[in-house]
Amino acid sequence: MAQEKQIDTTGLLGWIDQRFPLTSTWKAHLSEYYAPKNFNFWYFFGSLAMLVLVIQIVTGIFLVMHYKPDAALAFASVEYIMRDVPWGWLIRYMHSTGASAFFIVVYLHMFRGLLYGSYRKPRELVWIFGCLIFLCLMAEAFFGYLLPWGQMSYWGAQVIVNLFSAIPFIGPELAIWIRGDYVVGDATLNRFFSFHVIAIPLVLLGLVAAHLVALHEVGSNNPDGIEIKAKKDANGVPLDGIPFHPYYSVHDILGVAVFLIAFSAVLFFAPEFGGYFLEYNNFIPADPLKTPSHIAPVWYFTPFYSVLRAITEDFLLYWMIPFLVAFTLLVLASARHGLSKLIAVAVTVVMVIGFFVVDAKFWGVVGMGASVMILFALPWIDQSPARSIRYRPTWHKYVYAVFVVVFLVLGYFGTRPPSPMNEMLSKAGTLLYFAFFLVMPWWSRMGKFKPVPDRVTFSAH
Ligand code: HEM
Repeated sequence: MAQEKQIDTTGLLGWIDQRFPLTSTWKAHLSEYYAPKNFNFWYFFGSLAMLVLVIQIVTGIFLVMHYKPDAALAFASVEYIMRDVPWGWLIRYMHSTGASAFFIVVYLHMFRGLLYGSYRKPRELVWIFGCLIFLCLMAEAFFGYLLPWGQMSYWGAQVIVNLFSAIPFIGPELAIWIRGDYVVGDATLNRFFSFHVIAIPLVLLGLVAAHLVALHEVGSNNPDGIEIKAKKDANGVPLDGIPFHPYYSVHDILGVAVFLIAFSAVLFFAPEFGGYFLEYNNFIPADPLKTPSHIAPVWYFTPFYSVLRAITEDFLLYWMIPFLVAFTLLVLASARHGLSKLIAVAVTVVMVIGFFVVDAKFWGVVGMGASVMILFALPWIDQSPARSIRYRPTWHKYVYAVFVVVFLVLGYFGTRPPSPMNEMLSKAGTLLYFAFFLVMPWWSRMGKFKPVPDRVTFSAH
């Protein structure tokens, strides 16, 4: 009510404000939304993710005007876009480069969350919406990749859908149900098209809105991991806060400019990016009778694909069982509640029996799924007394560095054909990847923490 009195009721804006909360929304989310004054470059990636989302939607709309979701016409329609549609090559390259850019930006955005503990209380829901966005993004990229109907599109989809057939009892039927056919075919293309252009984007947009509403409810974290709302002036404005607009709206333009320079460089000079952004095999039309010798997903899926490939029978027996036993002993030695101990023992026993009874391929699928789903647990498994890496023991930085290297190694070897070296490093990487998260409740509490200041640290340039 008090807010209503302040609103000017004259003129066009007054007319609108009496019917729609335009000024109050502008103030609540922009001109009077107080963000910490010490944001650094890591905070560019949220707005950049929004920019890439817009690029993908706009270029997608134009691609759909010329693309044909028909197994007999799809490949040729993409070639037609590339060669004959005015500026079609630009729109298509913007969309394909945009897909990779989306993952680069989002991986950096997520890593920032890890560095500064942005998922910690009270931002758990911001993080959970983020993880759901990540799942949607993966689904969106997977469905979209089938559409050009090249060899990699076809065989990539075949391999991934076949994974579902590893699920005991229902698997084979489930895979047929997903494809709508016994092999990837026209029915598959039609449904993937439908999911790619409308179903997933709608969910994605809803989730991004929820992500931002949740963020604005609690306010942004910052590189110091300090709650700026804890210290306010007489008007209730956080002492370390500055209005998002104009300060960060202008600041973000810098990020956008740098991003667009890098994006354009790839777009105009290396759109295939050495086969990483557009795989060479995908310039060959899909041929259901000719399996490519090496099938690999696009780079952004390869860390998880490596996990899938690493999980073989001997990985389960010689790597996983000792790891699970050691982990259970750790829980038994340190858990305070009897229930936690019981759960740890029960899960280990069931899994070890499962390793002998169910095919390793199934555990590969479970491992790949778990390597993404484990991200949801971060707000609860990180027990560090300090949110930001700045105030954690120095060796925590090395743990993060090892994690990054492991993720990159898994990613790189996921793009390569199988070899003994690949197998060994993927197995070691998979174990370290899971150990990072599973042992986090212990290691994140250990070491000598630095004193966290009351106010954010900031020096104007
Ligand atoms: C389409 C994808 C996404 C968009 C458009 C998006 C957008 C944003 C924006 C605009 C912000 C505020 C600016 C900033 O802090 O950078 C933000 C913050 C945040 N996002 Fe995202 N985001 C996306 C995906 C994700 C994902 C996948 C995660 C994690 C799994 C995530 C986790 C977070 C967290 C924890 C914050 C708060 C950071 C802090 O306050 O320190 N976001 N996001």
